This record gives sequence, C-alpha cells and structure tokens, in this order.
Amino acid sequence: MTTFDTTRRLPLTRDDGARPGPHGTRLLAGWFTTGHAADLSDHRDRYGPLPQTPPAPLRDAVEEAGLTGRGGAAFPTGRKLRTVAAGRGRAVVLANGMESEPASRKDETLLHLAPHLVLDGIALAVRAVGADAAHLCVARTRTEQVRELRAALAERARLRLDPVPVRLHELPHHYVSSEESALVNWLNGGDARPTATPPRPFEKGVAKRPTLVDNVETLAQLALIARYGPAWYREEGAAEAPGTTLVTLTGGVHHPGVYEAPTGAAVGALLDLAGGPTERLSAVLVGGYFGSWLPADAALPARFTGPGLAELGAGPGAGVLVALPERACGLAETAAVLGFLARNGAQQCGPCRFGLPAVAEDFAALAAGRLDDASYERLERRVGLLAGRGACRHPDGASRLAATALRTFAQDVAWHRRFGPCAGAAEPSLLTVPQGAVPGPEEWR
Ligand SMILES: Cc1cc2nc3c(=O)[nH]c(=O)nc-3n(C[C@H](O)[C@H](O)[C@H](O)COP(=O)(O)O)c2cc1C
Ligand code: SF4
Repeated sequence: MTTFDTTRRLPLTRDDGARPGPHGTRLLAGWFTTGHAADLSDHRDRYGPLPQTPPAPLRDAVEEAGLTGRGGAAFPTGRKLRTVAAGRGRAVVLANGMESEPASRKDETLLHLAPHLVLDGIALAVRAVGADAAHLCVARTRTEQVRELRAALAERARLRLDPVPVRLHELPHHYVSSEESALVNWLNGGDARPTATPPRPFEKGVAKRPTLVDNVETLAQLALIARYGPAWYREEGAAEAPGTTLVTLTGGVHHPGVYEAPTGAAVGALLDLAGGPTERLSAVLVGGYFGSWLPADAALPARFTGPGLAELGAGPGAGVLVALPERACGLAETAAVLGFLARNGAQQCGPCRFGLPAVAEDFAALAAGRLDDASYERLERRVGLLAGRGACRHPDGASRLAATALRTFAQDVAWHRRFGPCAGAAEPSLLTVPQGAVPGPEEWR
C-alpha cells in the first residue's frame, strides 16, 4: 500500500516571498515557507485579510480566470456561480471535502495544510452567490481532520471573519456518498446516496434552494483569484484551463505524494515531481478509479488538462496519476478496483445492482486466467452497456476503467485467456483498494 509523504520539500517548487507565484506553488505556498500547517495567523501573514470584492465583480473575476472545478468533472466555476446567483430563492454553498477516491489525497492534504484558504473560498463563494448558509462536508472516518477543521472554524468564529457560519458535517464515507446529489440528500435528512437528477443541486438543492456545490480545492483557488485577480491566475498553467492544480502521484514512483503543478504539464514531468518512475512503466492510470488506463508511451508526453487528455479519451478527473511498472499486472489491478467499485455502488439502479458486480466478477476471472471465450465476449458486451444507465455517473466511471484496461492491456488479455495469469498477477497490489462488504441500509445515514 502506498504511503504519502507530506513532509518533504518538493522539487520544482519555489517560494516567492510575500505572495504565492508567479511560478511554482500557490495553494501550498504557505507550507513551503513555514514547513507546518497554517493556523489563522500564518494564513493572514501570508495572504492578508479576506478581500471585500462585491458579488458581481467577484463572479466576473472567476469567469475571466477560467477556473474549472477540481472535483472531477472540470465544470467552469464562474458559470456555476452565475447560475446559482440567478436561481430562485436564497442560495446555499456546499463545500465538498469528502474525497472518496481512494487513490487521491489532495483534498485531505489541502484541508490539513491550508484550511483557511478553503474557508476563505467558502466565505467568498457565499458572497458571490448571495448565500445565507454554508456547509462543509467531510468523511466521518477522518476524525483528526474533523478535529482540525473544528479548531479552524472556532478561530474564525471568535474573530467573526465569515459572513455566515460554516457548518461542518461528518458523512458516511462510501465511494458514491460524495457525489453532489448524495450530499444534498443527506443534508436534507435522507441517505448519503445519489438521487435521480434533474433537478440538479444548482436548481433545487439543500432545503430546495439553489445550491453551489464545489470541491474544496476549487474554493481555495477561488480565494486566490479574489486576492490576486484573473490576470495573475492565468500567468500559470495552460491557456485553456489555467492555474495550478493539486495532483496525487502514486504507484511506481520514488516519492508518492500530493504535489502542486501548473495545469498542462506533461504527465511524465508530473511523475518526475515524485522522483520519477522506479522502473520501466507499461501504463499510467489517469484520473483515478473513474479514470482511464493509457499505455505509458502515449501517457507520458500528454498534457495534463481536459483538452490535452481528451485527445487520448481520458481526463484529469480528481488529479490522480498511478504509474504502473511493467512487472505489475494491469488486469489484476483493475479487477481489484472494479471489485471495490461494485461493492461501493448505492445498489439503487440496475447497473449498480447487477451490471457492475457481473463485470467485476468476470474481470476477476480474467485476471485469474479462468475466463472462457463466451464469458469474455459477455464481459466486453456488459462493459459497453454499463455507461449512461444509472441515476449518477458511478457505472460510467467503472465502465471507462474496465474498457480502457481491456484496450491498454490487450496483450495481457490474450495471454491470460490462453495461458492463465501472468507473473505480475501474483505481485502485491499497487493500488489502494479498501476492503469491506456492501454497506448495509443503515450505513448510509
Ligand atoms: C460517484 C461520484 C463520486 C464523487 N466524489 C467526489 C468527491 O469525493 N469530491 C468532489 O469534490 N467531487 C466528487 N464528485 C463530483 C461531485 O458530484 C461534484 O461534481 C463536485 O463536487 C463539484 O465541484 P467542482 O465543480 O468544484 O468540481 C463525485 C462524483 C461522482 C459521480
Ligand atoms: S447508479 Fe449506482 S450509485 Fe448511482 S444512483 Fe444508481 S445505484 Fe446509486
């Protein structure tokens, strides 16, 4: 299992003194300066007080900066702010700090090292959409994180920094309980399971009011834009998706961990931030467990942005890259992840109840070299049928992972079907795959 090192001073980052940028780190600048998590006084020394930009110019600045969501779908944040602000009824802000993707640690790291940047982002989002309520949702299992956030919120409350109090909520931690409609449903008194949409949360969310759901990194980026402006924001990163981004680099790299890098850097350059590959790679998993396997020779030169990866049929997702060494078995790794995804659906829709477990079972048989020809054809057919049939995107993500594995590891597929499992299938798993049974009905509240 990968361990994450957040104590190293990372290469290719630079501290520029009084304010973050123009090159290197921005979100983690305070951390690189002091080497410890920022309390409120560190934070204010570094970034100054909360800017007082009025709502409309604030929304314009975010739009001009070209900020896109860092929770997985890369939706334009400025457009979402505008839509929620124009909605019927008083708006609500909901910060998504759940980070249920097991391969990702960026949100946990950010909330630990720079909690006030996220909390500033929430306060500014409240102003930008005219909200009168703010919620921060995190995983119930992360007790240390909850303790730290409660302390940070208490510090701010004493100084009356926030326009409305931010309510911290501890939710059940399953893969799909961090999907936006699941968060809204839980805050409305139901289970943390996705609900059928429309209406989407931005139309009718918490207490049936227009609700801005944003990832915590997105909100921290918003706090930087409000301070330094869109032109400064665009000085880093790719023109089509500017700024920096947090990435979790793991698998066969020397120093797995969370790094900050300009958007648009090549995948190979990002892996070099983590000390580079430990050995020759066969493939890279791009985007996380909802992501895509790409052959290493295609992945390494690719630009890590939505448009850069779209050419290869992939996307940055929640900023995860997993380097797969040649000696590892991509089919065994994928089978383990599909098993996890199958156990972690909310078991409400057909693809989650039947399709995904069936695909996971066949994939496990393929990895073990026990899948006959008829069953292999059935697996290919079922993978194609999963996407677009659930109330949420859970089956779509699993389908993408399975389809790209069959394509990228085509030679291994042929070997496993003909001769049985390869030597790599006996290697310990590179990917973190939480164990545990399908959650019972009472485990969603
Ligand atoms: C199954 C599933 C799990 C998700 N998990 C997360 C998560 O852990 N954190 C997150 O920010 N977004 C997650 N999302 C995306 C959210 O639904 C939502 O789009 C996001 O929080 C919006 O924030 P953004 O625009 O800042 O990216 C998930 C989506 C799906 C379909
Ligand atoms: S697709 Fe699965 S996770 Fe999504 S709503 Fe349906 S049952 Fe729930």
